[in-house]
Amino acid sequence: MPSLNWPDKALNPLPPAEFTLKSYIYPDGEDYPSKSPENHLYLGDNLKIMAALLPKYAGRIDLIYADPPFFTNKNFSARIGRGEDSRRPTEWKLSDGYTDHWKDIDAYLSFLYPRLVLMYQLLSPTGSFYLHLDWHADAYARLLLDEIFGRDRLINQIVWLYHGPSPIRNAFNRKHDTIFVYSKTKDYTFNCDAIREPYNPNTVKTFASSSKAGFGKIPNLERGKVPEDWWYFPVVARLHNERTGYPTQKPEALLERIIRASSKPGDLVADFFCGSGTTPLVASRLGRRFLAADATWRAFNTTRIRLAGLPSKPFSIWHEKAFNIPLAQIKIKAQIKDSKISLIDPPDLDYWEMDPDWDGKIFKSAAQQIRPIRNGEIPLFLNYPTLGDRIKIQAVTVNGELTESVIKTGIQ
Ligand SMILES: C[S@@+](CC[C@H](N)C(=O)[O-])C[C@H]1O[C@@H](n2cnc3c(N)ncnc32)[C@H](O)[C@@H]1O
Repeated sequence: MPSLNWPDKALNPLPPAEFTLKSYIYPDGEDYPSKSPENHLYLGDNLKIMAALLPKYAGRIDLIYADPPFFTNKNFSARIGRGEDSRRPTEWKLSDGYTDHWKDIDAYLSFLYPRLVLMYQLLSPTGSFYLHLDWHADAYARLLLDEIFGRDRLINQIVWLYHGPSPIRNAFNRKHDTIFVYSKTKDYTFNCDAIREPYNPNTVKTFASSSKAGFGKIPNLERGKVPEDWWYFPVVARLHNERTGYPTQKPEALLERIIRASSKPGDLVADFFCGSGTTPLVASRLGRRFLAADATWRAFNTTRIRLAGLPSKPFSIWHEKAFNIPLAQIKIKAQIKDSKISLIDPPDLDYWEMDPDWDGKIFKSAAQQIRPIRNGEIPLFLNYPTLGDRIKIQAVTVNGELTESVIKTGIQ
C-alpha cells in the first residue's frame, strides 16, 4: 500500500498536559451543586490534552469530530462586541481568532499526524471519526487516515457544499469542504433512521404518476431517504441566529446530522479543535456527553459562553497549567440587596457568572448572564435566593479579558 512520508514524520508526543480544574458550570443552576459534571471543556494544546486523557478515555469515545486548521496559510480574526452583524462590515471590531500559518506542508503534516493517531487511540471500537478539511490538504490527510485506520475503514468521503461571494476570477469558485469518515472496526454505530430526509418533490411526483418509475423498485416515500454523501447547508455567515463572531464556525445542522448518524443518546462525543463550540453545543442538545478542547482563549471562552446560554448540561472547565489568561485591569464591583446582586459600573461585558457560596477552591457557577448575540444588553443583575457569606463573580469583557471578585455578603 502506498504511504505518505516526509522528512520529519514522527510520533514524538509531548508530555501529557498538567491541568487545573477551574470551575463547574451549572447553566441556569441545573443540578447545582450536587452533581459533578460528566462533560468537560479543556483549554490548551490538544496534543498534550489528548495524551493526558488517554489513561481514562482510550477506546472510550463514541464519536470524534475534528475540524483542524485547513493549511490555508491565513490568520483568522474573530468579530467581537456588538458590531458583528455581517451586513455592516464597517462596524466590525476584530480581535485575534486563530492562526493557520505553516512553514510548508511538511510542518502542517507534522502537526496533524500525531493528533490523528491520538484521536484513533481514544476512539471506541464501535466509534466513528470525522475529519473536516478542504482542497488545501485533504488528499494528504486521506493517506494518513488510510495508514492509521486501514484503507478499508473509510466509510464515507462527504462533500459539504455551500455558496457565498468570492473574489476568485481565475478558477471555479471553491465552495465545498471534504469530510472523511472512518471507523475502527466494521461494527460501528450508524443510525440511518435518525437522519432520513424527505425525497425530492420531483421524485415523489414521478412515483405518483407512473407505476413503472424506478424500474419496479418503489421507495418508501413517507419514511424518507438516507441522505447522499453530498450535503448542502448554508455557511454560518448566512445564519444570523447562530453566528458567534468566531471564524470558520460550522453550522449546527451539519453537526446535528453527524451526531445523530454516528452516536446514541448518552454516548460520549469529542471535539479537540472545538473553536466556537458547535460540537459540544449540539451534542449536549441531543443528549450526548461531551469532551471539547481548544488552544485559544477566545475559542474556549466563546464555547463556554455558548454552552452556558444553551443551556447545556453541567460541564467542568480545565486549564492547562501553563496557560496565560488575559486579565482585565478593572475589578468587578457589586451591590447585594436582599437576593439581588447588581454589578456597579462594569466594563462592557460578554458574560458574567456567580458562585453563590464561594469555598475558595473550585468556582461553581450557579447563575450566568450572557450578552445576547444580536439585540439587547447583557443584564447587570442576578437574583439568587440563597447566598453564603462570600460570593465570587467572574466576568469576561468584550475584549476577552477575565476579571474576578470575591464579595462578602454579610450573611452568616
Ligand atoms: C476550523 S476551527 C474550528 C471551528 C469549529 N468547528 C466551530 O464550529 O467553531 C479550528 C480550531 O482549532 C484550534 N486549534 C488549532 N491548533 C490547536 C491545538 N494544537 N490544540 C487545540 N486546538 C487547536 C483553533 O484555535 C481553532 O479554534
